[in-house]
Amino acid sequence: MAHREPERIKEEKLREKLERGEKIESLSQMSEQYREQLTHLMMMQADSELAGAFGYVPWIMKSPDIKETLQVAQIVKDEVRHARVMYRLLEGVGVDVDRYYKSHNFSLRVDAADLGTLRAAADQRVNIFYYPIETWYDFIMFNFCMDRGAGHQLEDALDCSYKPWCDGMEGIFKEEAMHMAHGDQWTETLAKDEASHDELQRALDKWYPRTMNIFGRKDSPRNKVYRALGLKKRDNDQVRQAFAKEIGGLCRRFGLRVPDWKPEASKMSEEPFIPG
Ligand SMILES: [Fe+2]
Ligand SMILES: [Fe+2]
Repeated sequence: MAHREPERIKEEKLREKLERGEKIESLSQMSEQYREQLTHLMMMQADSELAGAFGYVPWIMKSPDIKETLQVAQIVKDEVRHARVMYRLLEGVGVDVDRYYKSHNFSLRVDAADLGTLRAAADQRVNIFYYPIETWYDFIMFNFCMDRGAGHQLEDALDCSYKPWCDGMEGIFKEEAMHMAHGDQWTETLAKDEASHDELQRALDKWYPRTMNIFGRKDSPRNKVYRALGLKKRDNDQVRQAFAKEIGGLCRRFGLRVPDWKPEASKMSEEPFIPG
């Protein structure tokens, strides 16, 4: 029988490694708690990337012109690639990805104005990905708000304690920045044109609060666990404020009003999300 290191010793070694600022490279170096928390975070990202891609698909056909058809197709391909990168990492920590993939419907969307923190199915996507993208304005506001929110969220993963995740994030992060730039260019154009300004504002009113809700509760106990394991660096609310500040500056530049948002504890999950 193979010798298995007692869990207590594994935990101690892991803690010492993290204290020295070293990164975890493989499953054999993980405690059970580390593996569980890491799996959970990576699964939320993987499912969100994939569900995000599927939600964009109709906009390959419905985009305003041929240039945008290619842009949207490129974004869909990027998101599917991000999902693939993340599911490979999940395979590396022992997840039966093939079975998981076959047992969930990632193209599911629900017709609800406000889901709160409810999940509409058993997959682990962040719940903003259950809302349908119904107009081109929705698509642009998704790039403007959600890709930006995801970027802020993922900044911590770029230099987290799990080296393979950091490596995967490098390319993902660059592509997300391009999605965001796409959203910013369109937001500026639509905001400055009188014919589209009001409808864009309405789309922002819809997607901004939904994005503000993805970051999770302030001082969440779960966030403290993530930080202790080097899987996150900041409190949920710090990340949210960084996002809100950036949106505020852009809205001033483009002549848009930042929608109201209040933290409603009942509506906010303990968990932040990661990705889009
Ligand atoms: Fe992505
Ligand atoms: Fe994206």
